[in-house]
Amino acid sequence: MTNSSEKIILHDNVTVGDAGRLRFAGVDTAALAKKYGTPLYLVDADRIRCRIALYQTEMKAAFGGQSRPVYAGKAFCVKAIYRIMAECGASVDLVSPGELFTAKEAGFPLERAFFHGNNKTDADIALALDSGVGCFVCDSREELIALDRLAGERGIRQTILLRVTPGIDPHTFAAVTTGKVDSKFGSPIATGAALDLTKLALQLPHIELVGFHCHIGSQIFDVSPFADAADVMLRFIASVRDETGFVASVLNLGGGFGVRYTESDPAFDYAAAIRSLADAVRRDASANGLPMPTVLMEPGRSIVADAGMTLYTVGTVKEIPGFRTYVSVDGGMPDNPRYALYRSVYTVVNATHADRAPDRAVTVAGRCCESGDLVAEGARVATPERGDLLAVLVTGAYNYSMASNYNRIPRPPVVFLSNGKDELVVRRESYEDLVRNDL
Ligand code: LLP
Repeated sequence: MTNSSEKIILHDNVTVGDAGRLRFAGVDTAALAKKYGTPLYLVDADRIRCRIALYQTEMKAAFGGQSRPVYAGKAFCVKAIYRIMAECGASVDLVSPGELFTAKEAGFPLERAFFHGNNKTDADIALALDSGVGCFVCDSREELIALDRLAGERGIRQTILLRVTPGIDPHTFAAVTTGKVDSKFGSPIATGAALDLTKLALQLPHIELVGFHCHIGSQIFDVSPFADAADVMLRFIASVRDETGFVASVLNLGGGFGVRYTESDPAFDYAAAIRSLADAVRRDASANGLPMPTVLMEPGRSIVADAGMTLYTVGTVKEIPGFRTYVSVDGGMPDNPRYALYRSVYTVVNATHADRAPDRAVTVAGRCCESGDLVAEGARVATPERGDLLAVLVTGAYNYSMASNYNRIPRPPVVFLSNGKDELVVRRESYEDLVRNDL
């Protein structure tokens, strides 16, 4: 829907339209702000469909067989995204009973779901079993034993993957590194714990182990840590075969491909990365005398991040000479906690004057009663004034899903854009919503 003659900002779904106003997925952001108010989450639904299709096509071609992406819903979890995943024939990764419930309410076929979690309670396990979740990704001895008991009570033999840690450090930021030996997730291969749990899983009568899972981290632009993880995993699969005779048919390599948040991030070629990872897996499988497994990947960020944008209205603009200019907006850390948590850098655009060159370095502040409530520091924008719309780009992943009601600020609505049309998929929270459970 984007007019090809329009100037592009960072991603081709962000363009400069009439009178210098920013357009997203071909739609005028000023018109959307007027219709829905700000702050506002916008989602380019067609971009999500294209990305999932890209993973599906490339993974099938590169790894073969049933290899496919499993969308990691933690990146962005609303009923509407599960409707898209259902329609695209995609699988999903659920990490909590709340995500499971959301998918179920959306009518997502749960036999295509993978149920994660490092500390599933008996109630979580029972809910997932009773909902017909296709595959559990089991994390611990306690979970295996509880699952075997609860599946047995229901007369079910539940398909599972076992989550293991390959001991790979992808050198991304610490909060999202998960594949190292010292991790709350999975059991380490290096200490022998993974092999012990595998033997246990193979003995339990109500569990059907089909393969292994690992996830090394997030926002990774380099294929080599994934190839290293695949190498460790295939050697592990071979050692399990040698010890027990069991040959895993599924290898889940987790999520983690990077996304371009700013001009200084590289543009990532997902198709090329998938192909080179497939070459590595094929080489490792053959070196270990193993058949090519069904390979699953769990992309979250790279499916939804650049499909998202947040629109704010500028309020106060305060210049402190010798220090900085604070531009306060009508949202902040409640709708985007990633700067406060990780110092994540975003591209900010004055959406009212997107045709103007960025001429000011500003700090974008939220309206919470907390100095750390910032969305960006040193962001270069065309000088904003009260009433201008400010767009923060690439907010589709881990923004809405991590949003809070800090300071009793209602969460913004979510509007999907598709084929030039807008559709409200999550209403703006009301003040009544905020007190709904208060007694
Ligand atoms: N699979 C597993 C088991 C995961 O733990 C994750 C992310 C994914 C898949 C998806 O990874 P992705 O493709 O999105 O990188 N809140 C942080 C990100 C935490 C990621 C946690 N796990 C952030 O805002 O950057």
